[in-house]
Amino acid sequence: MEILRTAGEFRAWSRKTRLAGQRHGFVPTMGALHEGHASLLREAKRRADVVSLSIYVNPTQFGPSEDFQKYPRTWEADVATAEREGVDAIFAPQTLYTPDSITQVVLPGWNAVLEGEIRPGHFDGVATVVAKLFHIAECDLAVFGQKDAQQALLVRRMIRDLDLPVDLVVAPTIREEDGLAMSSRNRYLSSEDRSRSVVLSRALGASVDAWKGGETSPEKILAAGWRVLGGTPPDSVDYFTLLDPDSLAVLDARATLEGPAILVVAARYGSTRLLDNAVLGNVWA
Ligand code: PAF
Repeated sequence: MEILRTAGEFRAWSRKTRLAGQRHGFVPTMGALHEGHASLLREAKRRADVVSLSIYVNPTQFGPSEDFQKYPRTWEADVATAEREGVDAIFAPQTLYTPDSITQVVLPGWNAVLEGEIRPGHFDGVATVVAKLFHIAECDLAVFGQKDAQQALLVRRMIRDLDLPVDLVVAPTIREEDGLAMSSRNRYLSSEDRSRSVVLSRALGASVDAWKGGETSPEKILAAGWRVLGGTPPDSVDYFTLLDPDSLAVLDARATLEGPAILVVAARYGSTRLLDNAVLGNVWA
């Protein structure tokens, strides 16, 4: 496994592999790898001949009140995970920005919905760094997790709007045995909050069951989930709502669900925010 530290090294590695006729699958991460990331690497491996992984804690996607310095950095464990999953190259740059870099990729409107509203500037940072990573990686395909559904939808739209030559693969969320979606944030939960947090996946499940039972009213689909959430309420719920995956509009509760939709939840336990989601229909087609 190669460890590549500069954009030039990573691009040269990618060009060499592709010239040799190999299909290059890329998994961008900020490190602190867990089983969810491992599943993305396995998905890339299934679909490509060589797999690269980037580990870069991107400062531009953190807001002023979010602690970039405190983001977990677990280099040795990450390298071991990458080795175990048969990764061919890790791209781990010191930085991806020059001090005077000013260019940004912005998806107006899309950057201010739900997560974007709560974390202003977050999706501008994500879109910009992902565009940079794609340009450097020159990969054939990139694997993202459904866990960060808004991010995956944003990347899909950016690829389309900018004609980026990358196939996007969105891999299913990996869950703990009790249903909690795996996340690098789970380590910050107290054991009591960890037990309570299982309600998030159960609430999503109740809404999905209502939809599977033929319910097409967003209001009633959401009500089924809210009933479960109300049983073991998180400290607060930032949102529990349905999104249109093509326009990213929050669905009107009184409308009728006609196409695929994505059910998203964000809730707080102490200072830890957890996100989860479920798809209704074929969102990633
Ligand atoms: O999902 C992440 O870990 C990050 O947002 C990403 C895509 C690596 C960009 O920094």
